[in-house]
Amino acid sequence: MTDTLSPPAGQAAKRLFIKTYGCQMNVYDSERMADVLRPLGYAATDTAEDADFVILNTCHIREKAAEKVYSELGKMRELKEAKGGAMTIAVAGCVAQAEGEEIMRRQPAVDLVVGPQAYHQLPELLTRTARARGERIGADFAPDEKFDSLPAARGVDGPTAFLTVQEGCDKFCTFCVVPYTRGAEWSRPVAAVLAEARELAARGVREITLLGQNVNAYDGEGPDGRPSSLARLAHALAEIPGLDRIRYTTSHPNDMTDDLIAAHRDLDALMPYLHLPVQSGSDRILRLMNRKHGRTKYLELVDRIREARPDMAMSGDFIVGFPGETDADFEQTMDLVRRVNHAMAFSFMYSPRPGTPAAGMAGQVPAEVMRERLHALQALLLEQQTAFNAAQAGRTLNILFDRKGRHADRRQAIGRSPYLQSVHVDGADHLIGRIVPVEIVSGQQNSLTGRLAQQKAA
Ligand code: SAH
Ligand code: SF4
Ligand code: F3S
Repeated sequence: MTDTLSPPAGQAAKRLFIKTYGCQMNVYDSERMADVLRPLGYAATDTAEDADFVILNTCHIREKAAEKVYSELGKMRELKEAKGGAMTIAVAGCVAQAEGEEIMRRQPAVDLVVGPQAYHQLPELLTRTARARGERIGADFAPDEKFDSLPAARGVDGPTAFLTVQEGCDKFCTFCVVPYTRGAEWSRPVAAVLAEARELAARGVREITLLGQNVNAYDGEGPDGRPSSLARLAHALAEIPGLDRIRYTTSHPNDMTDDLIAAHRDLDALMPYLHLPVQSGSDRILRLMNRKHGRTKYLELVDRIREARPDMAMSGDFIVGFPGETDADFEQTMDLVRRVNHAMAFSFMYSPRPGTPAAGMAGQVPAEVMRERLHALQALLLEQQTAFNAAQAGRTLNILFDRKGRHADRRQAIGRSPYLQSVHVDGADHLIGRIVPVEIVSGQQNSLTGRLAQQKAA
């Protein structure tokens, strides 16, 4: 039997460098692009300098993210010139989708532009660029075509993996580009997800994170031909031998159904960590954002989730300085954060995005005010995160060791707690890939320190 992960016999390895920006869905897509290109003889490399093929997998969510692409492309162009043109440059992801034409215009060194729904066509595109530069393939394809043509084999690096189960968004929050860059909500069939999960488990993966822009809106076709919920999918995945942990991200509050909340009570494999962005604590701003729920509904939802799973670690995303946000609105956000008490959370200054309704709204907030609010919010969130980490001291947690630590002399390994904290443990480097009880000694701002407990590893 030939190993599908090696380059075909007799073919010299070509080197592929992928740089990934943005969300976990882009991380997954980058891995899948490497999978698609592997049968053509492409092996991954860590630097653009020695690459034959460079892909920038881009993000359009905020202006800074999108602008970074052009400065990076400038560097790639110099590199390509230094190599006498012997390097192919592709731009993939959400900037490719949103401004493909502009990329080709602003940076002529780019050979091809490929949207998030078309990267399965990379092999064909590559043979074509040999003849004609300037190909642009957009996302005018249905995602099922992409998923159907991805290779079954996946390059796996360690005991944790991402698995995209849902794409796109129909929510149209007024600040957000995702509905435009990723298209309408679409879910992969249950059978396809289970097959990919089994493949991952066979390669030693113990923990999978199901991905989707609105992953809890998942409604993929089930074995009975009817739509299946994310909760049912999680129950089916939990049956796969070796797959001990399931996570999912990102969820929308309005799709947090009763059966999913119940799954957190009933399913041990479902980890007690939930990324449930609310964006703002002000009803007025939530309305302007078109989030379609208020603060009370969100707080009640968090209560119900914690009734089902009392130790649930809550995570989220916040935007400060949305158009029209007053000091009083911002104070409502701070108040909501205090009530929820987050294990961790991301927060951003509002960035007006072309083509979104909020970009044209009255009351754009000055940068200085946004910065102040962001500082205050981040200080509060960091305080909560540090307290949450410190509170683990003295507990014994099951840790999935997934990588070596910096201190090889102490045989240090790093693992993940059920709450997605990084846990550093000395004398544990032989336990990578296993789930082991660890006594937590202390919790710091960004990680925990533990020591091996006396029980046997699972
Ligand atoms: N689908 C997810 C989030 C996708 S984008 C959800 O609905 O929660 C990730 C985060 O980026 C968002 O949650 C939001 O906090 C932030 N974001 C999106 N658009 C933004 C913008 N225009 N300016 C600043 N932050 C933004
Ligand atoms: Fe963007 Fe809103 Fe969709 Fe999330 S739910 S991807 S924030 S439009
Ligand atoms: Fe960015 Fe696209 Fe993800 S805009 S956040 S890479 S869906």
